[in-house]
Amino acid sequence: MPRPTIAVARAIFPEVIERLHAHFEVRANPQDQLLNPQELVAFLQGCDGLLCTGSERIDAAVLAACPQLRICANMAVGYNNFDLDAMTAARVLGTNTPDVLTETTADFGFALLMATARRVTESEHYLRAGKWTRWSYDMFAGQEVHGSTLGIIGMGRIGQGIARRGALGFGMKVIYHNRSRLDADTEAQCQARYVGKEELLERADHVVLVVPYSAASHHTIGAAELARMKPTAVLVNIARGGIVDDAALAQALRDGKIAAAGLDVFEGEPQVHPALLELPNVVLTPHIASATVTTRKAMANLAADNLIRFLTDGAALTALNPQVLDAA
Ligand code: GLV
Repeated sequence: MPRPTIAVARAIFPEVIERLHAHFEVRANPQDQLLNPQELVAFLQGCDGLLCTGSERIDAAVLAACPQLRICANMAVGYNNFDLDAMTAARVLGTNTPDVLTETTADFGFALLMATARRVTESEHYLRAGKWTRWSYDMFAGQEVHGSTLGIIGMGRIGQGIARRGALGFGMKVIYHNRSRLDADTEAQCQARYVGKEELLERADHVVLVVPYSAASHHTIGAAELARMKPTAVLVNIARGGIVDDAALAQALRDGKIAAAGLDVFEGEPQVHPALLELPNVVLTPHIASATVTTRKAMANLAADNLIRFLTDGAALTALNPQVLDAA
């Protein structure tokens, strides 16, 4: 039996490529070039599996042009780059990388909240620019974090991690909004109280977004929602670009509707809305919430494990459309 062929869409850790070589013919992308849909289709010809990242869109057109493909293993927990219905119809398995990144991503959500509320990057730029000549009583005075009210929209594993950090580490009152309310035990562990979205926006001193992207969650935060928030509030988005209307956010920041924003994800990234780049009260990071060496290795290895399990014995560790496994 010939060994299956798999494609690795972007550069990843060499040791993970080595692991894959033990099982498959591996087609890597050594230049780490971003592949447009036509290039992706050409790259995937003759491949049984793909290890991809959120940058590669897998839709009906790609699937139709790659009939040999049987699995796409995303090196990300979010999978809005997958048209999962089209994949299921084409009997292509999708997998993602949950759990291994939960705590690291929650750490980063908190880091972005702290950096934004306490004006860390803005004050650093000031210092580096040689503008610091004397201390003054209100220099870079920001917003209180400990003891304040933390509002979390999207209370999955990462949201719960942020809630625990806020409640247990910083004595925050945690309120959350989610598609469905958590069970009482989980609420107690997170010390979090369920509220409606409007109440959350009005009461929270800081709002952290951790909701998965879908058509239904597009622009969860737009002009109307920003207008409900406190003028002293900080907004943090570690979810996905498109959860926030970035143009409306830039306008709200300019108008003083909220105090500041910490953003790791953007509409149309890696482009960033030019108005956000001009504002001092925004902390901007390039989609790095899960980026520690340990976690990124764990994500790459989990994606590789899904490919190995599926293409060698028809199973998978973190299947998104397990009906494909049942039908196999
Ligand atoms: C990163 O954004 C992920 O979904 O893992």
